[in-house]
Amino acid sequence: MSEFIYGTSESFKKTIEKVNLYAPHPWPVLILGETGVGKELIAKRLHELSNRKSMPLIPVNCSAIPAGLFESELFGYEKGAFSGAVSNSRGLARMANGGTLFLDELGELEINLQAKLLRLIDLGEVRSVGSQKVESINVRVIAATNVDLYAATAAGHFRQDLLERLSVLRIPVPSLKERKEDIPLIATAILERLGAKFSAEDLAVLSCFDYPGNIRQLRNILIRAVVIGKMKISEPLLKQLLKEEQKETLGVGTSPERASLLHGPLEAIEKEIIVDRLKKYHGNRKETAKDLGIAKSTLHEKLRRWKADPTIAQNWPMARWGSALSLA
Ligand SMILES: Nc1ncnc2c1ncn2[C@@H]1O[C@H](COP(=O)(O)OP(=O)(O)OP(=O)(O)O)[C@@H](O)[C@H]1O
Ligand SMILES: [Mg+2]
Repeated sequence: MSEFIYGTSESFKKTIEKVNLYAPHPWPVLILGETGVGKELIAKRLHELSNRKSMPLIPVNCSAIPAGLFESELFGYEKGAFSGAVSNSRGLARMANGGTLFLDELGELEINLQAKLLRLIDLGEVRSVGSQKVESINVRVIAATNVDLYAATAAGHFRQDLLERLSVLRIPVPSLKERKEDIPLIATAILERLGAKFSAEDLAVLSCFDYPGNIRQLRNILIRAVVIGKMKISEPLLKQLLKEEQKETLGVGTSPERASLLHGPLEAIEKEIIVDRLKKYHGNRKETAKDLGIAKSTLHEKLRRWKADPTIAQNWPMARWGSALSLA
């Protein structure tokens, strides 16, 4: 078995129930969830719990293969099919024959390439580039993405027919923010594996952060804490690292979800950054929000909450509140 999958929250239990229920079947599975929630881990588990476990699990990173090479990488090519094709290649789909083909980051695949997957998923058919011969293989397809494929389909970026074929069995994976009660358990497991010294009380502060990068981000913060604290974890150290992480997350233009910020001890940092940007843009909310990578409405909501704070008031003259409050 690969790594242990931690989580006892109700929402995560539902995910694991689906993994166990869907694993033995041959039909495609679509794993959906934010970055770092464990989609790849779940794909591996589906394979390991199936009767294909002794056969290969072949990952295909749809966002990493250049568009011009996707078909030949996936389905192989005949010698001489294009310049550089000096010998035959079987391609990744044939390599997965008898096992599982894991289409990772599927939402990043260009729409014209999405059509190439239909015959493989429907009929198990593959055809090498440069060949007329169609071959049948037996693969189970698992796909994963952090893109909202339903929205992408509505916007015309993702094929409806492909989505229908792939979404027979769906596994939504909750974000860490939606299962905060799992944070101490996961953090404990990570720190024990790293051999760090810590107490359960030290870890309580970890629950104040939203982790837009989910478990990967939590793990990175803990590794940093282990290195900086020389294997000894303390609450002040974790607090400091979370503050720094918060600053980084705000600094690099992030989605509104990423910017759903903290209340409590880290709020001061958030305020500091927002005041700084407000100054830079002379109180212009639109520009400030754009620079921070958050929705204007999110910024507005925060300013409303802090309007009594003198640092906010100084940088946002009271005269402006009338119009600011009326803006959506
Ligand atoms: N429930 C879990 N228990 C323990 N470790 C986990 C769990 N979920 C994820 N991890 C760990 O978190 C890290 C990120 O997981 P993974 O690569 O599977 O995420 P992902 O959803 O595929 O992310 P991305 O969308 O960025 O590719 C990995 O190191 C993985 O082992
Ligand atoms: Mg992944």
